Amino acid sequence: MAQQLISKTCDFVKHKLDGAEAGHDWFHVERVWKITKIIAQHEVCDTLVVELSALLHDIADPKFHAGDETLALKISSEFLEREGVDPATIEKVLFIIKNISFKNRGELPADLPIELKIVQDADRLDAIGAIGIARTFNFGGFKNNLMYHPDIPPKLNMSKDEYKKNSGTTINHFYEKLLLLKDLMHTAKARELASERHVFMENFLQQFYREWRVDQ
Ligand code: ADP
Ligand code: NI
Repeated sequence: MAQQLISKTCDFVKHKLDGAEAGHDWFHVERVWKITKIIAQHEVCDTLVVELSALLHDIADPKFHAGDETLALKISSEFLEREGVDPATIEKVLFIIKNISFKNRGELPADLPIELKIVQDADRLDAIGAIGIARTFNFGGFKNNLMYHPDIPPKLNMSKDEYKKNSGTTINHFYEKLLLLKDLMHTAKARELASERHVFMENFLQQFYREWRVDQ
């Protein structure tokens, strides 16, 4: 029964995300779903809530829907109700979809449900490493942003002035988000998986600057 629901949810999400930007498409969701299952094996949690949330978490990202923060909740709740999922499970899944985003990280209570922690860690793992780099440049290209601007080399904890000049470049996204993620992981398994991906990004940035300067 749960397996059938998961499989129906996969079909629903695949269909909905047809034509989505390549960093937020079905393949992103599929990777996040697979990572959540690995992390969940090491935690005591409600696996149905975790899997449904992973599958539905990007069903209608506000940045692709004119900032609408409620659309994903509406689409997900309608789908889950139609499939006869029990109200308590629906409520837990909607809570995760609503609160998973990096930009809301300051506003959440300290005692988050483990199911949210797992899906958030998985989503963040897919934002770093080689895939994270690829997704970030894909999104920057999608927005027609500059890759990099050499006037002020980006660094962590930029001043407001430096940030203003830099923000909007794809390289800057590493400093405003991607390099911070390894220390924001909630679970031990995610921290372990994050460390190799983090080092890969640091090496990538060093090589990027070296090639940009055309040292040799
Ligand atoms: P969250 O879902 O945690 O709120 P986002 O959807 O903003 O995070 O980001 C998901 C991914 O989209 C990022 O990890 C990155 O790959 C890409 N992305 C988002 N904003 C930018 C940006 N300004 N420049 C480049 N890539 C971005
Ligand atoms: Ni996501």
